[in-house]
Amino acid sequence: MKRISLTQHLVEEQRLNNNISAELRLLIEVVARACKTISHAVGKGALGEVLGSANTENIQGEVQKKLDILSNEILLEANEWGGHLAAMASEEMESIHLIPNRYPKGEYMLLFDPLDGSSNIDVNVSIGTIFSVLKAPEGMQTPVEQDFLQPGSQQVAAGYALYGPQTMLVLTTGHGVNCFTLDREMGSWVLTQRDMKIPADTQEFAINASNARHWFPPVTRYVNELLAGSTGPRQKNFNMRWIASMVTDVHRILTRGGIFMYPADAREPGKEGKLRLMYEANPMAMLVEQAGGAATNGKQRMLDIPPEKLHQRVAVFLGSKNEVDRVTAYHQ
Ligand code: AHG
Ligand code: MN
Ligand code: MN
Repeated sequence: MKRISLTQHLVEEQRLNNNISAELRLLIEVVARACKTISHAVGKGALGEVLGSANTENIQGEVQKKLDILSNEILLEANEWGGHLAAMASEEMESIHLIPNRYPKGEYMLLFDPLDGSSNIDVNVSIGTIFSVLKAPEGMQTPVEQDFLQPGSQQVAAGYALYGPQTMLVLTTGHGVNCFTLDREMGSWVLTQRDMKIPADTQEFAINASNARHWFPPVTRYVNELLAGSTGPRQKNFNMRWIASMVTDVHRILTRGGIFMYPADAREPGKEGKLRLMYEANPMAMLVEQAGGAATNGKQRMLDIPPEKLHQRVAVFLGSKNEVDRVTAYHQ
């Protein structure tokens, strides 16, 4: 097998599509390198003293794990000096992070969920990092939160790293989705799957069913029909998976299809679901659409939603197109 590195892939994609400036390439390579560092820390586990809680809370009121904080710091530090960014935003920081004055500024803005699937860290189940890249608005001086509030359709790149039995990087720059596997001996990312595609039909779904009593009628109807199997209205059996690491659930869907749902529910009135639009739902929606799937909040295309706040939550339905279309239609 001829090995194609991440760098070679990015250079060739630029030649082909003229969509990856030198700055954007640097950005992606710096993020990929930071993910390598996070992967290394994850792999050390107790030996690296990275497990357990940090006994602090983030802006969402969630208790932070040591790895949430460490991963956030690794990404911030890696991305400050390169001159490719105007600012960053993260699940773990209340407000946006400006590039320190000692460094030059660039035209991109980076958002991330530094460590996704935190509840799985201490049980040695796959976790990940999710990132989204936007362009700074024309004429922007000092970046403010408002500059980040662009719909997901404006993303110039999106991806995730998956820290599992293998460490992978799944990336889109708007021309399909490609997967790289970390060669741990060489320390390099090697292209291992080109142009990932999600089949339009599936017999697998993912939802946290412990919340069933709180669901709204469209979700209850949809899931009940799946559960009814071959003797129900769908006339086929469906299998279920729920890993509780969105990265891992989405990776399964990019690999073999499926639908992922984290709906809004009646637990906390007014709360639009659990996942965050800007650094979880939007990057995943871009990847899923680029792979031929669909992503909505139950009512509209995820990538068309005009964001109102940096840490805004959103209901998520994504994956195999025919299933996402169906559950979205049930909401009409
Ligand atoms: P994070 O660890 O970044 O807070 O995200 C966790 C998310 C997501 O990865 C997963 O799909 C979901 O939370 C699981 O939520 P439940 O524990 O409610 O099932
Ligand atoms: Mn997350
Ligand atoms: Mn997280």
